[in-house]
Amino acid sequence: MGSKKTVWPKGLKSWGALKDHCRQDLKKRHLRDLFRRDPERFTRFSVEAEGLLLDFSRNLLTRKTLKLLNRLARETGVEVMRERMFAGEHINNSEDRAVLHVALRSDRDDPYFDGDFDATAAVHEVLDRMEAFVHAVHSGQYAGHGTGRHLTDVVNIGIGGSDLGIEMAVGALANYRAPGMRVHCVSNIDGVGLGDVLAKIDPATTLFVICSKTFTTLETLTNARAAREWFVQRYGAEAVRTHFVGVSTNHEAMDEFGISPANRFGFWDFVGGRYSLWSAVGLSIALGIGMDNFRALLAGGRAMDRHFRDAPLDANLPVLMGLLSAWNTNFLGCNSLAVLPYDSRLARFPAYLQQLHMESNGKARQRDGAKVTVDTAPVLWGEPGSNAQHSFFQLLHQGTQQVAIDFLAPVQASGPSQEQHDLALANMLAQARALSDGDCPQDRSWGQSPGNRPSTTLLFQKLDPETLGKLVALYEHKVFVESIIWGLNAFDQPGVELGKRLAREMTDAVAEPDGFQGGDASTRGMLDAIARWR
Ligand code: F6P
Repeated sequence: MGSKKTVWPKGLKSWGALKDHCRQDLKKRHLRDLFRRDPERFTRFSVEAEGLLLDFSRNLLTRKTLKLLNRLARETGVEVMRERMFAGEHINNSEDRAVLHVALRSDRDDPYFDGDFDATAAVHEVLDRMEAFVHAVHSGQYAGHGTGRHLTDVVNIGIGGSDLGIEMAVGALANYRAPGMRVHCVSNIDGVGLGDVLAKIDPATTLFVICSKTFTTLETLTNARAAREWFVQRYGAEAVRTHFVGVSTNHEAMDEFGISPANRFGFWDFVGGRYSLWSAVGLSIALGIGMDNFRALLAGGRAMDRHFRDAPLDANLPVLMGLLSAWNTNFLGCNSLAVLPYDSRLARFPAYLQQLHMESNGKARQRDGAKVTVDTAPVLWGEPGSNAQHSFFQLLHQGTQQVAIDFLAPVQASGPSQEQHDLALANMLAQARALSDGDCPQDRSWGQSPGNRPSTTLLFQKLDPETLGKLVALYEHKVFVESIIWGLNAFDQPGVELGKRLAREMTDAVAEPDGFQGGDASTRGMLDAIARWR
């Protein structure tokens, strides 16, 4: 890839062919006509695998598009890079790290190595410890300090990859909650979330899980220290060893915080934060839904890994989704992706996917440092339907921006009423149709909906742990495929560092605005206002 410096991927043959094909064959076509002309369109442009049905027939493409996109995947080396990832090569080149989140959901005999380090063995050792711990908490064998009371409330303190996956999965799998267990997620630095949670828990029955890959993140340590202070005031310092658990790659920092060795759960540098919910980072999920369900989540991820690794490109769900993303972003000009789950249990799924997509591929430099010459990650946003229909769907139907859309839904209700869920499904189908067809020229009474707006639908039977695992791994690998096409390293995040550095400077400035000399006119003006209104 190094030799393709300035031309990647624009200089590739398949890229040029796709450009020509888009201009000549598709720019003037309408999805409505493509459906009219080809009754087999759904069969041609849908794939069912691993219990997921991907309907991408409502994207503006033809068989030729798919052929060319497949060629693009080959030319960009998607298959080669996929092998290198599974083989534990250091494809996170800027940090010189392997990318082995797939090892986190491995079978015990899957051979995953980072050099000589047996990742599979290490992963299963931690999983077995997690299992023992979760069982002990649920059975009451591991209980409140001095009282022996059952621990029923888990407070996960983390942010980003140490929070979003947990909150998303705990919400998505609320139907699988272990009896009596409640999981609360605290992340934001402003202290509001922590205050709200502390107001409703009893320290005697609470387990705090301090979750941070680095154990240096300002938000997490601020909340963790505040939680510990609150706890010590009510329950004494002695009890911290029982009621605080740590999840991190930084054992020294957990030690300094006062987490007892038996309560430290580790993971490794070959796991990126936003790819880590399968590791000990998922401890709060496992405490919430039980280890059997957590293992089912892992099994779902593993099934998707195998599919991604083995299925031919044209029937490979993550490959297809990655290619569709490049097609919509780079050729059809969609600069955002709306993720619209028709299941309220998936309310935090878009937020989870935001970090996964935008922290991974929101980049303008390629793996070799060259400037990217095509658009990379589109802005990702979303809300559950049908709520969203009553807020921003106007823009999706008639706005001037082209938005790509992912609809997702289980067929079986996550709530108590299948009848009501069927209404949600009907709405989802109706919206997908309205977006692609638009209204006919004879019926413009509602204002013109031009249609020809792409959408993709993922349908599955039921939102259970295994299916959620498949969905998450599907999107992880989709992001990987996109990154290869765009020539990016999806596994670092250098762009977040500048803000963190300036925040340290601003912390002192906000504390003492008068003493602060640096900054520009805006910073000065805002600091003055803060001083006036505090
Ligand atoms: O600031 C971004 C980030 O580094 C994410 O990549 C990460 O998920 C998050 O912060 C939290 O980091 P940690 O788990 O080390 O606290």
